[in-house]
Amino acid sequence: MADTMKGLKRSCYAGELTAGDIGKTAVAAGWVQKIRDLGNLIFIDLRDRSGIVQLAFDDSTNREIFEKAASVRGEYVVMAQGTVRRRESVNKDIPTGEIEIFVDDFRILAKSLTPPFEITDQTNVKEELRLKYRYLDLRRSQMQKYLLTRHKIAKVARDYYSENGFLEIETPTLIKSTPEGARDYLVPSRIHEGKFYALPQSPQTYKQLLMLSGVDRYMQIARCYRDEDLRADRQPEFTQIDLEMSFVDQDDVIAVNEGFLKRLFKEVLDVDISLPLRRIPYMEAMERFGSDKPDTRFGMELVDLSQILRGTSFKVFAGALEAGGSVRAIVAKGAADKLSRKEIDKLTDFVKTYQAKGLAFTRVTADAHSSSFEKFLAPEEVEAVHKAVGLEKGDVLLVVADKNPVVFAALGALRKHLAEKLELLDKSKFDLLWVTDFPLFEYSEEENRYVSVHHPFTHPAEEDIPLLEEHPEKVRSIAYDIVINGYEAGGGSIRIHDQELQKRMFRALGFTDEQAQEKFGFLMGAFQYGAPPHGGLAFGMDRLTMILTGTENIKDVIAFPKVQNASELMTECPAEVEEKALEELHIAVREKEDKSV
Ligand code: AMO
Ligand code: AMP
Repeated sequence: MADTMKGLKRSCYAGELTAGDIGKTAVAAGWVQKIRDLGNLIFIDLRDRSGIVQLAFDDSTNREIFEKAASVRGEYVVMAQGTVRRRESVNKDIPTGEIEIFVDDFRILAKSLTPPFEITDQTNVKEELRLKYRYLDLRRSQMQKYLLTRHKIAKVARDYYSENGFLEIETPTLIKSTPEGARDYLVPSRIHEGKFYALPQSPQTYKQLLMLSGVDRYMQIARCYRDEDLRADRQPEFTQIDLEMSFVDQDDVIAVNEGFLKRLFKEVLDVDISLPLRRIPYMEAMERFGSDKPDTRFGMELVDLSQILRGTSFKVFAGALEAGGSVRAIVAKGAADKLSRKEIDKLTDFVKTYQAKGLAFTRVTADAHSSSFEKFLAPEEVEAVHKAVGLEKGDVLLVVADKNPVVFAALGALRKHLAEKLELLDKSKFDLLWVTDFPLFEYSEEENRYVSVHHPFTHPAEEDIPLLEEHPEKVRSIAYDIVINGYEAGGGSIRIHDQELQKRMFRALGFTDEQAQEKFGFLMGAFQYGAPPHGGLAFGMDRLTMILTGTENIKDVIAFPKVQNASELMTECPAEVEEKALEELHIAVREKEDKSV
């Protein structure tokens, strides 16, 4: 039988005791991190969420207590009362290293099996095992820090937006499935045979309707669900700090949210962000950095060589230019020694994953000049290229020729890849900027139609509205993303509040008026009753937490995350359900097709 807490009341967190407490009585409770049994002396490291304190037992300790202390194992739950005293040997590695609790009452509240891995921050345990035993993994102080930072972010968000007149309002999570965006998670209805709810990909339409309701300023820390392929910064179930405002333009939305970011960085990291943040139009971001979420902590900007090479006889470049594409380059300054031929071959494989057909290079070491393409160019073309990129001894020039989207994707990714590889990133710096003027549409080869870059409620740039029907590809939107250290940390737009414009938008997206009515009728109906001009934004709260804690793995900042194949390893979901439950839902699961035949 385990002991009880009877007669003891916890007086402090283990990690918060200091030399100032010496001489006081303390009662701490938590898990056994470590036990050192020296025969006549026992030391136990007791851990709780705040840190560790050492418990000490010696010859003068009551025998029964001494023996009980000797019997504990790692991860037992214990409670100890004693006097705080100065330690013989100070441990500089932990904040409580100057003191210990000399124990006079000791309880074992629960025993523990030997855990499948040691609870320590210096862990190289496979992530899968950590996730299967997530409750143990979360005991690690690093994980506790992630949870704490996430909590602080939520708190600053609630405080800040509330102080600025935003009301926190919950919106439903069983909603109507609408087309556009990612794939929905569907929930079958028991009552309405054959009908389904969807889990929201975001509260988008509801927050717009709240503006129609006169709420004026809304915010919510909202769960969102998207059935899409996972990446290091993507989860099927994630959280947004979501907001919407009425009677505002882009500058108003940006100003309020910059204010939030300033407050957030100050309160969580004590880092000062100076406002206003930079704004880079989408096209400029693409041309300079090959990305709509540029990391501008380092240079290595793209250089457009198309003008210089127009008319070249080198087929690879000429072909791309004739097809309406471009030839662009980046220069890895002073990296010739680090980028051997073999390394450049690896970079070629890297850009091929972005559909580039090759990577042309020039490498200038102290005593050699080698190039994969200069022999195909005229000498004056070579000279002009060198001049355009400012090529010097020690540099490596890397060139991609293709359709623009491929060139940007390949060089944009290569630029970031090289920054990591060549250690060009100052990871202590925070790089915040807005990307504005996104195109309203992009063409989907898969669907054979234009789709929204942001979503179908995004307002086109006023001056581009006349182009909606004839030149949808040229229409820019009043949409903006907040980019931090190369992550899209949030995004939003000014919305369409005019129902005629909204109808034109749906038509441009390839919906007939009837289809638009069927899918978005509730919204269009509402807009007939006086919609205020409005706009908003949503931050990815998981991504903000990643950025503020410095981790590159989104799973770290989510208490119970999903893995690559969208399952959760601890509870083993998704899982089969009972036949009866399926019957009630009028659902039959078909035998999986055997794809091997
Ligand atoms: P958007 O789709 O850009 O906009 O999402 C807003 C932000 O949410 C984060 N995010 C994700 N984080 C983790 N995992 C995911 N799968 C994931 N998908 C998105 C990103 C992104 O910038 N309703 C609009 C916002 C608006 O217009 O107000 C929306 O959802 O950081
Ligand atoms: P080739 O004529 O195919 O031997 O190509 C000469 C050089 O151009 C090689 O270094 C190729 O990797 C490179 N190359 C091929 N296609 C492209 C492309 N689309 N963009 C940039 N370089 C390319």
